[in-house]
Amino acid sequence: MSVLQEISPSVRNMWQLEYGVLARQASQIKEQLRQGVRKPYQEVIDVSWGDPHRGGLKPLSFVRQVLAACLYPELVNSDKLPVDVRQRAQRLLGGCVGGSVGSYTTTAGISEIVQRVSEFITRRDGGAPSYPENIYISPGSQWSLTNIFTVLVNSEGSPRAGVLTPVPSHCTTTLSMVGLGAVIVPYYLSEEQGWELKVEELHRALESVKGVCKPVALYVINPGNPSGHVQSRKSMQEVIRFASKKRLFLLADEVYQDCVYGEKSEFFSYKRVLSEMGPPLSDTVELASFHSASKGFMGECGLRGGYVELVNLDPAVMKYIYNLFSIDSCAPVLGQIALDLMTNPPQPGDPSYPLYNMETQHIRAALIRNVKRAHEVFNSLLGFSCQPVEGGAFAFPSLHLPPKVIQKAKEVGMQPDTFYCMRLLEEAGVLASPGCEYGQKEGTYHIRFCIMAAEETMEEVLRRLTSFHTQFMEDSS
Ligand SMILES: Cc1ncc(COP(=O)(O)O)c(C=O)c1O
Repeated sequence: MSVLQEISPSVRNMWQLEYGVLARQASQIKEQLRQGVRKPYQEVIDVSWGDPHRGGLKPLSFVRQVLAACLYPELVNSDKLPVDVRQRAQRLLGGCVGGSVGSYTTTAGISEIVQRVSEFITRRDGGAPSYPENIYISPGSQWSLTNIFTVLVNSEGSPRAGVLTPVPSHCTTTLSMVGLGAVIVPYYLSEEQGWELKVEELHRALESVKGVCKPVALYVINPGNPSGHVQSRKSMQEVIRFASKKRLFLLADEVYQDCVYGEKSEFFSYKRVLSEMGPPLSDTVELASFHSASKGFMGECGLRGGYVELVNLDPAVMKYIYNLFSIDSCAPVLGQIALDLMTNPPQPGDPSYPLYNMETQHIRAALIRNVKRAHEVFNSLLGFSCQPVEGGAFAFPSLHLPPKVIQKAKEVGMQPDTFYCMRLLEEAGVLASPGCEYGQKEGTYHIRFCIMAAEETMEEVLRRLTSFHTQFMEDSS
């Protein structure tokens, strides 16, 4: 009997990401370019993922130096590396079993690193205490998210568990919820108001699933992916009150916390806002907050280091969470080290500080300029309209497509925005992602561009887009 018949209905419900068809086409084009096929461009630029190094940003020297010395401890005694790099590597190796990054660590992560992550959280949150026993390091934050959903979603429950999920949202998280058997309860971010999260919309979403599922959790992404919105403290307080009143577990996906560009925007963690609201809320609202070494200035996605901090969970639930995390033994040690370096970077006075400071300032300035340029260019193109990007890794402009294009897309069996992305890829060599991947209001279309890229890469994307789009609209009108 084929295993196909045994695949669980939840896994069957996981849809194919639109990205697949675009990625396959991108690979073919790259191969053609390698073989010398002539195209109007010499290479494909991929701005479809929130992957800073893919977009041409350079890894931070301090991070790579410490990692190098941890991998090859001979370097700890070499004068080729700054003294603080060598000391940090030595200290980190001291936390590894057998002094090697090749050993397993304890389930939650190397205890010295978990301790330092909790100290970072306390500093970040203005002194609101964080406890190492509530923190789990995982192979990227996606892993933690899936584990927490596994605990929250009773796949055999009737009615099924529902998770309030933003539209648009991070698509792999939505897929992981579906794969676990959750019902996605969409709440729409208000595009016209800069993708704001409105608490009235949460009420509407909850009402709309009465009798359909049992809502158990509320998932928020702040700063937003792909929306680029940064929530105000007031909005977060409203969300917390809502979660408390409706007895929903709050999942705060805060992986873009270092990426805030708007002059009036500031990142606050849900943990901090909850803690400052005081009892009874601060003692009762159950919260999981996620962060990652994949984003921010480091952008070390491939090292797979993320963490979750759990707040106000029943100790009995914490035992199950421990079990789930222990299945994978531990997160990759290099990912754990990346988290340590992200949460405890060089300080003024350290030998590595001047270079670290220069590199991070350079990246910050580039991202601010990218955001400004992307916003200007999108809003200058006929049919495009882009809300301000206050934070995160993406611009998510809406695209008003002519009826002729929608018809053509139908004829070839594609979503209209996937059709647009395919043409952009084939004709201009730019790989972006279609809005349908992330969820959007019926009848609207969007394109997601990663702005976490080197400035020259972003400029080239905008240049190619402008000339492609002008021609595309002319041909389609
Ligand atoms: C909002 C959001 N959450 C979680 C993740 C997962 O990140 P990682 O697993 O690399 O930490 C991503 C990745 O793009 C993301 O955009």
